[in-house]
Amino acid sequence: MSDNLTNNCRLEIVDSIEQDRSTDSVENKESTQTAESERIDELNRRIEILSERLSQSQRLSAIGELTSTTVHEFNNILTTIINYAKLGMRHVDKTSQKNAFEKILTVANRAAKVATTILAAAKNRKQSLEPTNLITLVDDVMLLLGRELNKYKIVIERYFPQNAPEIMADGNQIQQVLINLLVNARQAMKNGGRLILKIIHDEENEMLDLTIRDYGCGIDENELPHIFDRFYSTKSGPDETGKGGTGLGLAACKEIIEQHKGVIRVESKLGKGTAFTLKLPTVIRAKLIELQQEKEN
Ligand SMILES: Nc1ncnc2c1ncn2[C@@H]1O[C@H](COP(=O)(O)OP(=O)(O)O)[C@@H](O)[C@H]1O
Ligand SMILES: [Mg+2]
Repeated sequence: MSDNLTNNCRLEIVDSIEQDRSTDSVENKESTQTAESERIDELNRRIEILSERLSQSQRLSAIGELTSTTVHEFNNILTTIINYAKLGMRHVDKTSQKNAFEKILTVANRAAKVATTILAAAKNRKQSLEPTNLITLVDDVMLLLGRELNKYKIVIERYFPQNAPEIMADGNQIQQVLINLLVNARQAMKNGGRLILKIIHDEENEMLDLTIRDYGCGIDENELPHIFDRFYSTKSGPDETGKGGTGLGLAACKEIIEQHKGVIRVESKLGKGTAFTLKLPTVIRAKLIELQQEKEN
């Protein structure tokens, strides 16, 4: 709630209180105070509604960005299904038909997984934190974006530990963060290049660190302090696949990671590339934070 929009609402509240004060007389002080507090309640309600709407736009913009990718994905899957169905009809022997059915089942399962992932991400529901495998989350996002990254000649290198502990997270929200970061990385590498995904278990702090490093255009040091601001964008609008240009992506990432008691960091060099690191509490760390908070209350 520390963004410009919320600050504007706060200023509105302060302004209106000041105005009321200046016209205040001793006799009607009490009724003015009641009116003041009602007005503050009303403006607070409006702030809440606006914040909720903004979060919803952020979520929908991440999903909207996936629409064209998903349509392409389904189209490819349908083509495969049609071709194998034709093959199965032409070759009536049992082995060829079984083979065709198996291929159809594999791609149809993939389509079902893509559809479920998108539907889950679109659901408007309260955050629910649970023990979550970060590597599985990254793999699910790759299922949605892998082909597109491939098309733009982006080569993914993965460095994941064997036995990473689970993090305490809302899987849909973390997927939304990953989608935003990966789309930004892809857009920064117009001619393709390396994209490194790395997970490290920071045992000292009981956090998992996920780094997404691109070798793209990088960010100017004057722009760097603004990139997490809502509506800050250096893009002229959505690209040819309908992605980006809203300036909502990184603002949503920061909000989500902070709600997870995590941290998002960025390192960038103009012309060299950018690395975003998410530090997320493991289940153990989340429990410790919870105990600490209980103690304080
Ligand atoms: N990986 C990246 N490489 C270079 N610039 C980036 C990267 N990620 C974000 N940015 C910069 O941060 C800005 C804000 O990003 P974001 O909030 O996702 O909005 P959008 O993608 O809609 O412009 C981008 O417009 C871009 O200037
Ligand atoms: Mg973006």
